[in-house]
Amino acid sequence: MKKFQLIRIVSSSRLDTSTIMVSQSLAKQYNLIPGEKVRLSVGQVSKELRMLIRKLSEGADIVLNPATIRQLYIKSKTQLYGFTAQPGKIRIGPVVGIMSDVYQTPGKPFGGQSFFIRQLLTAGKQMGEICFAFSPQGVNWKRNNITGYTYGKNGWKKSSFPMPDVIYPRARAYTSSKQQIRRRLEKMGIKFLNSCLIGKWETHKIIRENPDLVPYIPDTRLVKSFQQVDRMINKYQAVYLKPVTGSQGKNIIKVTRSKNGKSYTYQYQLNNQPIKGSATSLSQLKNSLRRVMGNRTYIIQKQINLIRAEGNIIDVRIIVQKDHTGEWSVTGMACRIGRKGSITSNISAGGSGSKVETVLRKHFSNEEQRIDILKQLHFVSVEAAKTIEKSIGQCGEMGVDIGIDKNGKAWFIEANLRPARQVFNLIGEKDTRLRSVTKPMLYCRYLAHFE
Ligand SMILES: Nc1ncnc2c1ncn2[C@@H]1O[C@H](COP(=O)(O)OP(=O)(O)O)[C@@H](O)[C@H]1O
Ligand SMILES: [Mg+2]
Repeated sequence: MKKFQLIRIVSSSRLDTSTIMVSQSLAKQYNLIPGEKVRLSVGQVSKELRMLIRKLSEGADIVLNPATIRQLYIKSKTQLYGFTAQPGKIRIGPVVGIMSDVYQTPGKPFGGQSFFIRQLLTAGKQMGEICFAFSPQGVNWKRNNITGYTYGKNGWKKSSFPMPDVIYPRARAYTSSKQQIRRRLEKMGIKFLNSCLIGKWETHKIIRENPDLVPYIPDTRLVKSFQQVDRMINKYQAVYLKPVTGSQGKNIIKVTRSKNGKSYTYQYQLNNQPIKGSATSLSQLKNSLRRVMGNRTYIIQKQINLIRAEGNIIDVRIIVQKDHTGEWSVTGMACRIGRKGSITSNISAGGSGSKVETVLRKHFSNEEQRIDILKQLHFVSVEAAKTIEKSIGQCGEMGVDIGIDKNGKAWFIEANLRPARQVFNLIGEKDTRLRSVTKPMLYCRYLAHFE
């Protein structure tokens, strides 16, 4: 990993609360001038101090009064911090808050994301960031701070943190109250690593505006009536119905026209169990699907003729992220293989993983074709991320789902703004998994203007 400037802060009650003492070597490196007034910021809190420059003992870069240290929510000695300075301004951190939902599960305050968040906190700390995880309810507007969690030797620890420089949003569903909190935080000058969630229809409309991506998009429409569903089934024989705000393969339905053309067969997953049925008329189909569809908004999409492993569908999850340079790149890709008989490949619905290389070798004997498929996967995923970002505003990571058909053609399925990455564990790519955790924390430095 790239080495960043890290500093050690030492506390001394002999120093008054309006002074900061900086080591000669740090002052020289950043052209700091003795006697000058500087504003020391940690996230959104700051304090004006007068600068003293001294030769400090080995291992100390900055000395502050203990009250100042407390006021700025930092710790002396134990942690090394990132540092940046401009004339009249010194910043420590950056302060990064990971925003997620809090659960009552003992030992797992962030539910299924607890382990992932622990890894993020570790990665951030290693690069000198002040990291904590919190739920939107943890924001104290009056005290201008946040009650959050860190993870240490004794497990999860709750304490107070300053309003951060950057927030990494990891809460899944976005309620309007959460969105309000987000807007209020943004108004304070806090940057968000990713935009708000957008649905599958929104995503589709954005992607199809890019002529370079059009050849990779399966025919997709917003469901308006069952007559329209019927027309799509007649046209493509098999279609996917997907809720616009769904995830993890939930409430997805596949409908197929029977061979004799007289009836429909459908399949969906309920509590992870496949439900299959048939209907002899459109109104019967509509009634049968009501229990899954409820009054959710759906899109309808042509079925992609995905490659299969022993009959099970295969697709590709690609993690596209930015790092401290602010540029997009592919962090990793992995194939997901659907559970036996499943219409979705999602890991959360029982899918398994396999290396892309292994799958491609099995299905495409021609090396040139394999290289071409990899090129398509890279192009579609990065181009999709850039296109979506252009439309909805700054983003730092996306999980792009891409299908490959039997002719070796790639098809864009969807892009996720809160992507899971457990598939990399399943295929034994620990390094990729680690990189996928480190990169967003690097991008936080970029967003916070820590060089
Ligand atoms: N048009 C399609 N053709 C074939 N398979 C599809 C299609 N759309 C989705 N799938 C399968 O269903 C999975 C879930 O669909 P996706 O659009 O990614 O929704 P979710 O947000 O629930 O993950 C995909 O990863 C893929 O395996
Ligand atoms: Mg998906």
